[in-house]
Amino acid sequence: MAHISAGVGCSHIPAIGAALDHGKAAEPYWAPVFNGFAPTRSWIADEKPDVIILVYNDHASAFSLDVIPTFAIGCAASFNPADEGWGPRQVPAVQGHPGLAWHLAEQLILDEFDMTIVNKMDVDHGLTVPLSLMFGAVPAWPCPVIPLAVNVIQYPPPTGNRCFDLGKAIGRAVASYPENLKVMVFGTGGLSHQLQGPRAGLINRLWDTAFLDRLSHDPAGLAAIPHIDYLREAGSEGIEMVMWLIMRGALNEHVEETYRFYHVPASSTAVGHIVLVNR
Ligand code: DHB
Ligand code: FE
Repeated sequence: MAHISAGVGCSHIPAIGAALDHGKAAEPYWAPVFNGFAPTRSWIADEKPDVIILVYNDHASAFSLDVIPTFAIGCAASFNPADEGWGPRQVPAVQGHPGLAWHLAEQLILDEFDMTIVNKMDVDHGLTVPLSLMFGAVPAWPCPVIPLAVNVIQYPPPTGNRCFDLGKAIGRAVASYPENLKVMVFGTGGLSHQLQGPRAGLINRLWDTAFLDRLSHDPAGLAAIPHIDYLREAGSEGIEMVMWLIMRGALNEHVEETYRFYHVPASSTAVGHIVLVNR
């Protein structure tokens, strides 16, 4: 049977992708960011997941105000990098895993989560930047990736609790897939950041640290945090952090935090990263 071995939380700041793509990774501003992910790059190279379920949000690249799915699952065989205004990132196309993706869609919908099934979709920095951080500049991504897009752009986004519950349902669905696959779940976005308005540039290290601390041992407590607290404490874009609760929900009750990295700032955002291994 398929099983989930670990979860990865990771910011998806677009400037990180641009720095990598334009040869700036070794510059003093960026080197600490990329160095912070080096232990995970070697860990994941050893772990060799068969499939990654990558929870992210589309930033008006594939979707627009015309269509706003709360939860969308990519069931296609491949997904191209999106053109976000400067041409698509020159990174490999993402190979999907239609077998597991359709199984997830079926199980989740029958489990009463109303997933939108997506058979054609370009993927933006929300998905490609975490892949770059984990795998570097490679000619092909090392394993198939199932995109799971969450609306955190247009109010109302799903609650943290709904995200946590969806993660649990993903855990059950993966466990019922007959093929022997090692699956990892990535939760991306955050941490605290506000890109607009008078509070642009807001970063809240205390809030972020508490969130990371509680992710392993108190996810149900985190899941109870209301939207307004994310807005006040983590900034208008901090709501992206609810996606980490999908990742956490997919893991076992007992997880081991094997790695953490926190750095401010990159762009105007707090970079957060955590590795949680199922026990
Ligand atoms: C930034 C961060 C994001 O998560 C995002 O989606 C867009 C921009 C930023 O820090 O610039
Ligand atoms: Fe984002």
